[in-house]
Amino acid sequence: MLENHHTGISPKIIVINVNFLVPGMEVARDVYSDDGRVLVSEGTIISQHTIHKLKNWQIDQLHIIAEVAVNPIINPKVQQFINNYNKSVTAVEKAFANIRETHEVSVDALEQTADIIVDEVTAAGNIIDQLYNLPSCDDYTFRHSVNVCAIAALIATWLKLPPDMVSAVSLAGLLHDIGKSGLPPHLLNKPYRLPQSDYEQYKQHTLLGLELANKNPNIAHSILSGIVQHHEREDGSGYPYGLPSEKIHPYAKIIAIADLYDEKLTINCEHPGKFSPYLSLEQLRDQIHLVDAKICIIFIDSMTNFLSGNLVALSDGRRGRVVCVNKQSPSRSMVQLPDCTVLDLSQIHNIHITYVIR
Ligand SMILES: [Fe+2]
Repeated sequence: MLENHHTGISPKIIVINVNFLVPGMEVARDVYSDDGRVLVSEGTIISQHTIHKLKNWQIDQLHIIAEVAVNPIINPKVQQFINNYNKSVTAVEKAFANIRETHEVSVDALEQTADIIVDEVTAAGNIIDQLYNLPSCDDYTFRHSVNVCAIAALIATWLKLPPDMVSAVSLAGLLHDIGKSGLPPHLLNKPYRLPQSDYEQYKQHTLLGLELANKNPNIAHSILSGIVQHHEREDGSGYPYGLPSEKIHPYAKIIAIADLYDEKLTINCEHPGKFSPYLSLEQLRDQIHLVDAKICIIFIDSMTNFLSGNLVALSDGRRGRVVCVNKQSPSRSMVQLPDCTVLDLSQIHNIHITYVIR
């Protein structure tokens, strides 16, 4: 199998019906006419014009490249990411323990952790898929902090923010739930199932986080805003202040999206069959009125590029490979079955993608 050493991913060649081609796909083998002329050559990036020409030439199917993650055990880049990721989770765990003892957070130490994560994900964004491919999940809060740091860094990069802002927003992401260190442990794991009185206490983690981080004299005001405002919502329904859209800091808007995308994936990691990145993106799209719509669309569009090529299980028990992600409804993407049939799940209402097969 060929490996692309720049991205750490490996090209898979699949056969696809011309009707399912979308611009941006790469042709894996030359396409010939009946008399042996090359009509479209290997390596061509499909455009709307190419699709039109292929249909005129009455070509039914062709080979394209689907990008698929390499086995993490044998890919050194992925292995390095997992090592750094695990170190980062431990660093956050230590920070929480330290805060409980000293009531202070060492922002400098966590800044180094955030920088390592930023370097990893900005070098190869598709590595983000590995976040949900790791075995243990009893350290949900710490993993979630590192995941939000990584996803916030990616979003900041996609928004073309300068490097110092990418670093700042990712540090704010790493620190966003630091106030949970002041909450009783039973409030930490399943916040959406808490009774109302516990939920009111849980919401205080935003203000507790602000208070803790603010003890560091050098911390930027924008990072503090990212921490305290990450549960604020565009329609004013968020907490702790119920701010309107225009008063919410851009860092908090980025972290809110990373937080919503990651929380159910990480909290459900012990039941991978119940949740998938496809469903998480779909639910995020349903919540687009609560977050910054422009940033959310950029996030969904960019993330879907990583989700093409995955081997997935369908709700009817069959398995297949995602050949084209439906950005409107990712769990209803186009999936190719082992017999090369392509199912367009947007047209088949009782079947959807349930989980990614690792
Ligand atoms: Fe939070």
